[in-house]
Amino acid sequence: MSKKAIITGITGQDGFYLSDLLLKQNIQVIGIKRRTSLINSTARIDSLINNNNFSVVQGDLSDSFFLNNLINQNKPDYIFNLAAMSHVKTSFDIPIHTGDINAIGTIRLLDAIRTNNLSNKTRFYQASTSEMFGNNSKKKLNEQSKLEPVSPYGASKLYAYNITKIYRQSYNIFACNGILFNHESPLRGETFVTRKIVRGAVSIVKNKSSFIELGNLNSVRDWGHAKDYCEAMIKIIMYKKPDDFVISSDKVFSVREFCKKVFNYLGLEIKFVGKGLNEVAIVTKSEKYPHLINKKIIKVNKKYFRPLDLNYLRGNSAKAKKILKWKPKINIDQLVSEMINYDLDLID
Ligand code: NAP
Ligand code: GDD
Repeated sequence: MSKKAIITGITGQDGFYLSDLLLKQNIQVIGIKRRTSLINSTARIDSLINNNNFSVVQGDLSDSFFLNNLINQNKPDYIFNLAAMSHVKTSFDIPIHTGDINAIGTIRLLDAIRTNNLSNKTRFYQASTSEMFGNNSKKKLNEQSKLEPVSPYGASKLYAYNITKIYRQSYNIFACNGILFNHESPLRGETFVTRKIVRGAVSIVKNKSSFIELGNLNSVRDWGHAKDYCEAMIKIIMYKKPDDFVISSDKVFSVREFCKKVFNYLGLEIKFVGKGLNEVAIVTKSEKYPHLINKKIIKVNKKYFRPLDLNYLRGNSAKAKKILKWKPKINIDQLVSEMINYDLDLID
């Protein structure tokens, strides 16, 4: 009999990549999707719907009764908890909902494993995050680094990380944390900064818009590809013992540098001038799009700043490399080109 996995957050970016990888390993996937007023919330996973090993049920991480029943009926081998209110800036606007889904949602799942006596059967993966670290100056962050989040999202995820460890230690549940740094792809949500920049730049060269508005350009992130990071999730949950692992590329770029990479790939050289809210990026050179030379294609708007931001995130994934034999295969330039080509096809 094939193994069975329940994935929460199936309709999200990682939901697709993880399902695709599990199905290729002949593992049955049951995804949880919440009810939406439009049917197209499954756009990312529509290509998987015809796979006999793939199914989707409607439910919500706020509903303990639903989660408990689903876990009781299916007695899964694996649960991957990917569902979350995952947007850091939005978590300042809806902090209570963020806590309910990200923190309490996690304990709802863990407690369903415990109360259904599945501690010896069901392995649990928690989608933990580098956002839990907070501002640690410019250190490379690993499993021992201090956790001092600076957002309601980070705080909710720290609760989930801790409760996952507590259920592992108290009830002997195979419960593990992947502490994943930012990972992107063509399927990244449109309001995260990488996809926003890519879509904005493609829209500019296609004459659909004239500039992109961004917030903190100084912010530095360690960006990888979601496919590589979902491979790591599987290695973590299938490892011989439950443990916590940092997953990162260990390389960093600022938002400003990411913008330059995107415009360069499209055939434009850009220069940032000015300071603070008056900073802009101007096109300095382009054989392909001469009409854009001297145009301001990036502006700063204070509405995209957060009350508190994490300014620098750089991982150290040595433990995963050593123990899980995991390493990322896709570098930032390949990521950028894949994202751009996808949006060049998508945007008319
Ligand atoms: P995402 O694209 O935002 O997907 C989040 C998923 O959670 C979506 O399927 C969403 O459903 C679902 N969801 C939200 N609230 C829910 C609720 N109340 N009940 C059931 N489902 C709900 O996020 P992602 O990038 O794939 O990330 C996956 C997980 O990894 C998240 O937990 C995120 O916090 C964490 N993480 C992500 C990164 C990263 O860089 N991507 C890094 C570290 C950790 P809808 O489609 O209906 O919105
Ligand atoms: N979203 C967004 N929009 N971010 C901007 C913008 C903008 O217009 N301008 C600058 N930024 C900066 C943010 O202030 C932040 O410092 C950085 O770009 C990255 O922002 P996001 O792409 O929104 O990602 P994030 O780092 O806040 O959170 C993502 O990564 C976490 C892992 O570290 C999310 O995927 C989280 O769910 C994930 O846990």
